[in-house]
Amino acid sequence: MLTKKSGFAVVFGVMLFLLPVCISITSVYAQEKPVDNSATTLDNLMTAYNAEVNANARYIAFSKKANEEGYDIAASLFRATAAAEQVHYERHGEVIKKLGGTPNAIIETPVVNSTTENIESAFRGEVYEKDLMYPAFLKQAEKEKIEDAIDAFEDAGAAEGVHAELYAGMLKNLTISRGLSKDFYVCPVCGNAVDAVTSAMCPICLTDTKKFKRVR
Ligand SMILES: [Fe+2]
Ligand SMILES: [Fe+2]
Repeated sequence: MLTKKSGFAVVFGVMLFLLPVCISITSVYAQEKPVDNSATTLDNLMTAYNAEVNANARYIAFSKKANEEGYDIAASLFRATAAAEQVHYERHGEVIKKLGGTPNAIIETPVVNSTTENIESAFRGEVYEKDLMYPAFLKQAEKEKIEDAIDAFEDAGAAEGVHAELYAGMLKNLTISRGLSKDFYVCPVCGNAVDAVTSAMCPICLTDTKKFKRVR
């Protein structure tokens, strides 16, 4: 029979068990904040800059974990998307400077789980940026008629959509990909990432695909 004392112990035990789960959920969604509709384009560029710097750091950490677990293709995909997020934050940084601001990021320590969980988390982050963050930022930039920001947000949003698709595919094929390797190619202008170059120009920003950076 459950006494008051043992009942408390059970409740306390459950709370202790749930605590790390809650922390992990919170940290995953911390990167997916609701979009602040009162923010200016310069504010939004700073937010995007911070998000992309942290995505870059997270994907580099995830790539190391994937290599450790023998998932070399997933590791290469993380490195390619890390390079793509770098393209994004550098471009946002340039626009911030043009608008008189100073690019600044607060680097959070990446939360690294299993590669399957890391891909799921990366997928959610990309979908958030593609569906919510960049469309809202784009709308505001259009309102303020800031062409450089419009272009940067449009390109980054489209590239995040491609990243999300790559992660979805990787998740499906993770088990069979174990022990195999593969190159990815990253557009130096928009951060598009592909696993094979199939056109003369980047489908997002029309850059010559000869300029794509190969990442393994
Ligand atoms: Fe991305
Ligand atoms: Fe591109």
